[in-house]
Amino acid sequence: MDSSVVDADLITAAEELLASLKSQQPLTHTSRAALLHQVDKLRCGLQGPAEAMAFQRTLNIFTPAMNVLVEHRVFNHVPLNGTIGLNELASKIGWDPAVLVRFLNVVLLQGILEEPEPRVYRHTRGACHLGQRYCHLMPPIQGEVQLTIGNKISDYLKTHAPEDVYDPLKSPVAYARGAEGKTYYQILEENPAFSDVWHKGMAQTPLNPVVGMFPFRDMQQAVEAEPDRAFVVDVGGGRGNALIDIMEECGGGFGAPMVLQDLKEVLQGQDPVRIDGVQAMPHDFYNEQPVKSESSAQSTLLQSNQNVLYQTGN
Ligand SMILES: C[S@@+](CC[C@H](N)C(=O)[O-])C[C@H]1O[C@@H](n2cnc3c(N)ncnc32)[C@H](O)[C@@H]1O
Repeated sequence: MDSSVVDADLITAAEELLASLKSQQPLTHTSRAALLHQVDKLRCGLQGPAEAMAFQRTLNIFTPAMNVLVEHRVFNHVPLNGTIGLNELASKIGWDPAVLVRFLNVVLLQGILEEPEPRVYRHTRGACHLGQRYCHLMPPIQGEVQLTIGNKISDYLKTHAPEDVYDPLKSPVAYARGAEGKTYYQILEENPAFSDVWHKGMAQTPLNPVVGMFPFRDMQQAVEAEPDRAFVVDVGGGRGNALIDIMEECGGGFGAPMVLQDLKEVLQGQDPVRIDGVQAMPHDFYNEQPVKSESSAQSTLLQSNQNVLYQTGN
């Protein structure tokens, strides 16, 4: 492969990207993800071995840099509309500007902040949330969940039979946390810090949209006609984030039950789930569903990731 020539396939991919960019108006959550996928493919097609290594290095230092900036609330001091200079930012957190700038340089490379002029920073569209709602979640999510597991995965593979991957009691997570013999969710619920991070992550509904995927509001008449039947049963619904959003969208449950099902450890564990207007019902989804729909032909099932929402009214 001659690395000094731009591959014809790459030019075609770039042209396809341009056409996609022009045709995707307005951008949706899904189309943005698809476009970014095209951009990444283009970047991977262009890189040589040195750039591939450099990219990996950038990613490796990105996580610790983000953790430092988030923990020290650096993003909170960057105004949502406007800019801030390095010296002012450093003085707000009590740091030496020469140290702060090193961490900022790492995240600038990933488009988390931008530098409209030297040593002056502002938020980018991808980053403004970090200073606000999600910022406190980032270090524990990466530390507790991703890095612990990532650091042990190679040892796991060396010490386990290939079929162990399919055994929920011998998962890489269980191994990494020294808790083999327990399932992921048992481990999660036994550790308040881990479980808190996980459930807060699940509550990031702008990233995991539920309402808008199904016309819950249009069900009003049908649900009110049979108020004894459940409006929504959220199976594996965690702490009820989806139901909360649906009730917000509909102004409640139209007088019918909203049912939240999850494992007993989640619903009745260390921090029991109590939500006004929601019936928390421990249920293992491998067992028969206790909430029945009288007319299965008319019931609706939505599935997204591990979320399963059954609409059991008709
Ligand atoms: C990825 S989380 C999704 C949580 C929730 N749907 C949300 O969006 O906040 C998956 C959920 O499935 C639950 N779960 C896992 N295994 C289960 C089982 N066998 N029966 C019922 N729920 C289960 C977990 O406890 C967890 O709350």
